[in-house]
Amino acid sequence: MARLVIVSNRVGVPDRNARAGGLEVAIRPTLRRRGGLWFGWSGRIAENDPGPVKIAEHDNTTYATIDLRKDDYQEFYNGFANRVLWPILHYRLDLAEFTRRDLGGYFRVNEFFAKNLEKLLRPDDMIWVHDYHLIPLAKALRERGHKNKIGFFLHIPCPPPEILTALPNHEQLIPALGQYDLVGFQTEVDATNFARYLATERGLNRVDDEGFAFGDRIVRIGVFPVGVEAESFARLARRAIESEFVGDVLGSLSGRAMIIGVDRLDYSKGLPERMNAFERFLVNFPDWRGKVTYLQITPRSRTGIQEYADIGRQVGEAVGRINGTYGEASWTPVRYINKAHSRTALAGLYRAARAALVTPLRDGMNLVAKEFVAAQNPDDPGVLILSRFAGAARECSAALLVNPYDSEGVAIAINRALSMPLEERRQRQADIFKVLVANDLTHWAERFMATLEPPHGAAGGRAQVRAAAGR
Ligand code: UDP
Ligand code: G6P
Repeated sequence: MARLVIVSNRVGVPDRNARAGGLEVAIRPTLRRRGGLWFGWSGRIAENDPGPVKIAEHDNTTYATIDLRKDDYQEFYNGFANRVLWPILHYRLDLAEFTRRDLGGYFRVNEFFAKNLEKLLRPDDMIWVHDYHLIPLAKALRERGHKNKIGFFLHIPCPPPEILTALPNHEQLIPALGQYDLVGFQTEVDATNFARYLATERGLNRVDDEGFAFGDRIVRIGVFPVGVEAESFARLARRAIESEFVGDVLGSLSGRAMIIGVDRLDYSKGLPERMNAFERFLVNFPDWRGKVTYLQITPRSRTGIQEYADIGRQVGEAVGRINGTYGEASWTPVRYINKAHSRTALAGLYRAARAALVTPLRDGMNLVAKEFVAAQNPDDPGVLILSRFAGAARECSAALLVNPYDSEGVAIAINRALSMPLEERRQRQADIFKVLVANDLTHWAERFMATLEPPHGAAGGRAQVRAAAGR
């Protein structure tokens, strides 16, 4: 079996405090199970010279991390990756701020990653690159002569070509994906948008159902919705609800119902719109006042970027307005917390909640939605209220699907969730849980890797991709 080499900007080095982010949550168990190497940014910024790659061994995994220089961090991470690619791929052209300097920094850091990674590579390694920070990495490796199988998975959405072409220099950047052997997306919509871009903007031809010819290379495209460890997360939640921490939270609610939201503080998560919807709910369904508490856990994210500071201020103001207007001396409608929580704490809180509000304006998948359903007590489950614009909506079609821009609609869904009869709640939770178990995290990773490098004797990549796409 080939060694697995995972490359991502964010690396989940063990022994670190809780950190929010779906990529890290998805990769960690895959490496724990299979072993291999995880290469990426250390999370540190070097004053001058970034120094050599730091190696740490834990169980069967090697963690190889490197610091970024201050200008690299600024231009690559805060710049092109998170002020251009992140907003545009989340359909937010209005928030994109492009500079040529940042684009240069983006390519420079990809070169820097390739240069430092290649010292650790073996010819038969299977390389799996993750997310929008590293689109040109395969190109940089190929130019250095590496012929390994290299796959790419995009954790975030891929918008239609009408939006993607607003990306300055898309002609240079997007075709760099042609150096991968397999490019994976979260949903059929994302994969179709990408295929449309290749056909209409680049004039590339499909060579068969799933592949595109980039010169003499054939690149496969597949759909691999990222999953959660559904069964083990359910077990974790069963234990966690008995913890002192969850007991204290429940005690502090004095018997009130709890609604939960868990999101990084990011404009893609629709937090101001969600606050407006909760306020609308208190106005339109006044009988619930004093009987329900909305707990929103929102760790700060990407704090060096202005738009993230702006969204923090907006959410804070909305929470202040709601609590000031509707709160009582004995009841605070919204509890808003900017601290990251451990997965155990979250599992217990999910299980204790009567409903979850997961209403991103756009999201590649959204693991919180899946974790919430997995954590429920099947005999008396809470209800998932989910944005139709999250990738998870496809598999979680038995949730209460909402349009996050429609505050009246979300308010009605909150009332419906809190009033839903037991039998309907059970049915909805069971329907989703079944899907989550069938496509859990292990299945996701195994399917991607088997498609990238089919085991000897198995059907070729073509059949595998079709299976992955559920066709
Ligand atoms: N998470 C966490 N602690 C927190 C908040 C979130 O461990 O305080 C985890 C959460 O359980 C989930 C992930 O971070 O697994 C967030 O993934 P998601 O796909 O929902 O959103 P992303 O942050 O990747 O956009
Ligand atoms: C999303 C992205 C990941 C990223 C995570 C946390 O899940 O898809 O690539 O790691 O957010 O963001 P951060 O900027 O802290 O790595």
